[in-house]
Amino acid sequence: MKLGLGVTGIAISLVVATAQGDCPDYTTYAQSPQGNPSSGPLGLPYMRPDPACRTFNSTSVEKVILDMKSRLKDPDIARLFENTFPNTLDTTVKYYNEGENLAFIITGDITAQWLRDTGNQFAHYHNLLSIDADLANLVKAVINNEARYVSQYPYCGAFQPPPESGLEPSVNDWALGVVVNPPVNNQTVFECKYEVDSLCGFIKLSSSYYEATKDVTMMNAEWLAAINQIFRVINEQSQASFDANWNFVSYYNWTGLPGSLPGAVNNGGNGEPKGYTGMVGTHHRPSDDLSTFAFLTPANAMLSVELNNLATILDHAGVAPNISFQAKHWSKTIEQAIWEHAVVDGIFAYETNGLGSRYVMDDANVPSLLSLPYLGFLDMNHPDYVRTKKMLMSRGNPYYAKGRDFSGIGGPHIDVWNPWPMSQVSNIFGTNDDEEILTSLYTIVNNTGGLGLIHESIDIYNVSRYTRPWFAWANSYFSEMLLDLAQRKPHLIFTDSKPYTPGQ
Ligand SMILES: *[C@@H]1O[C@H](CO)[C@@H](O)[C@H](O)[C@H]1NC(C)=O
Ligand SMILES: *[C@@H]1O[C@H](CO)[C@@H](O)[C@H](O)[C@H]1NC(C)=O
Ligand SMILES: *[C@@H]1O[C@H](CO)[C@@H](O)[C@H](O)[C@H]1NC(C)=O
Ligand SMILES: *[C@@H]1O[C@H](CO)[C@@H](O)[C@H](O)[C@H]1NC(C)=O
Ligand SMILES: *[C@@H]1O[C@H](CO)[C@@H](O)[C@H](O)[C@H]1NC(C)=O
Ligand SMILES: *[C@@H]1O[C@H](CO)[C@@H](O)[C@H](O)[C@H]1NC(C)=O
Repeated sequence: MKLGLGVTGIAISLVVATAQGDCPDYTTYAQSPQGNPSSGPLGLPYMRPDPACRTFNSTSVEKVILDMKSRLKDPDIARLFENTFPNTLDTTVKYYNEGENLAFIITGDITAQWLRDTGNQFAHYHNLLSIDADLANLVKAVINNEARYVSQYPYCGAFQPPPESGLEPSVNDWALGVVVNPPVNNQTVFECKYEVDSLCGFIKLSSSYYEATKDVTMMNAEWLAAINQIFRVINEQSQASFDANWNFVSYYNWTGLPGSLPGAVNNGGNGEPKGYTGMVGTHHRPSDDLSTFAFLTPANAMLSVELNNLATILDHAGVAPNISFQAKHWSKTIEQAIWEHAVVDGIFAYETNGLGSRYVMDDANVPSLLSLPYLGFLDMNHPDYVRTKKMLMSRGNPYYAKGRDFSGIGGPHIDVWNPWPMSQVSNIFGTNDDEEILTSLYTIVNNTGGLGLIHESIDIYNVSRYTRPWFAWANSYFSEMLLDLAQRKPHLIFTDSKPYTPGQ
């Protein structure tokens, strides 16, 4: 998707919304500056929908916006925070019924719920869940809806609205020509690419909710069934492709016919063969592209961290000790396998196959190698991370690109000359260097195309060319990073140097 856009600061909002039915489509809305420019040099527009059109209201979220706006020294950054921090609640809660404990959250301009995206679309509200019961209940309903999806289809990553919502499933043109095993029902599943980090997204959101609320009722039968399915996937996908007698073992395979994205997959839809390492294989990357080699280092790093979080909440709740035991066992096994197989000469490979092959690169979104500290896998000062990060933000990474204004890490999902702002956010989470933080921050802030929202990717040859005008996860990740700086580096962004934590 490539979209042009208008010039900075011109208000062309013609639609006046009165009720949800009259609300403008936010994909269209997000492609033009909606007026009320900020007072900084960039004059960024106010892009929140009309209050009547917002999909969830939260007073605690509004308070964080006011707190941050009163402290941020750059009015353009304040405007970006104001637009991005509430974006998930303003625009993506497509269905919510508290009584049913069900919520359907879309990614933005694609009407489907991705496990990965939702895990991140709510990450920046974590500190508010302990003080805002309404927001916490929404998150609980998101988790419960996902528990249903995962218990039924643990290999899939993107889903249709729950039947209770009465919403029509959307047709995914890219999935119509796909043959996937185990087979799926397209009334429930939007897309069944197997990406192990999707399961991590579900655990991450569950841990965030439990940690903040200590509400053990989240761990209902459906949720436990989902967690058990995750261990089924871990057991199946950690195995070598061939057994000792050269029988080829396939638990999941995906074959695209012409017109699907990506196209045909070799070896009967299984992709490249793998050996045993202790890591868990994945078929597709977090970008939804096909993996080159099955063992995706950053997804395994996230899995190791999230399994440990899972064990912690289960132990605290005194629930399912056998699952907790398995979670700790796998968390350790995966962590050891990463250090043993993915790191050579202090450089992390993005993918390995357990047979000696490795692919040194990084992809744009999260989990990525650049985001290893954000994921909680290691400290940003770990020498192997420092060495790897330097290489990733240089020509050593085939998917790094730099133009006059914009630079960063892209990926084959769009192309190599369209890096993603998200990679610059990950870079900030991976450094303590003030100058580097400010350069990455302004590389993002200067390049929203005058629209005041965070996009998927930006063309290094022309920053007016970008993809995905409405991408809730990118908006959330950006504001989460500003909240991190508010604690870690307040002097860089505030008028004073007092740290700020939401909800405190
Ligand atoms: C940059 O892209 C925009 C939007 O596609 C286009 O209108 C403009 O002509 C391009 N500028 C240059 C210098 O190519
Ligand atoms: C949010 O509040 C506005 C009034 O400020 C109201 O019109 C709107 O319906 C509310 N949205 C929801 C989802 O409750
Ligand atoms: C489900 O698949 C059938 C058969 O390919 C197709 O006709 C229909 O449009 C699909 N529905 C959705 C919601 O994808
Ligand atoms: C595809 O996976 C199914 C299990 O879901 C398996 O029965 C079948 O043999 C696999 N096919 C291939 C070609 O690997
Ligand atoms: C935990 O025990 C239950 C009950 O025996 C079983 O159904 C489930 O598969 C076990 N889960 C794991 C991850 O071992
Ligand atoms: C951002 O834009 C300002 C004003 O044009 C410029 O001074 C600054 O160097 C830019 N920063 C980056 C990292 O591009």
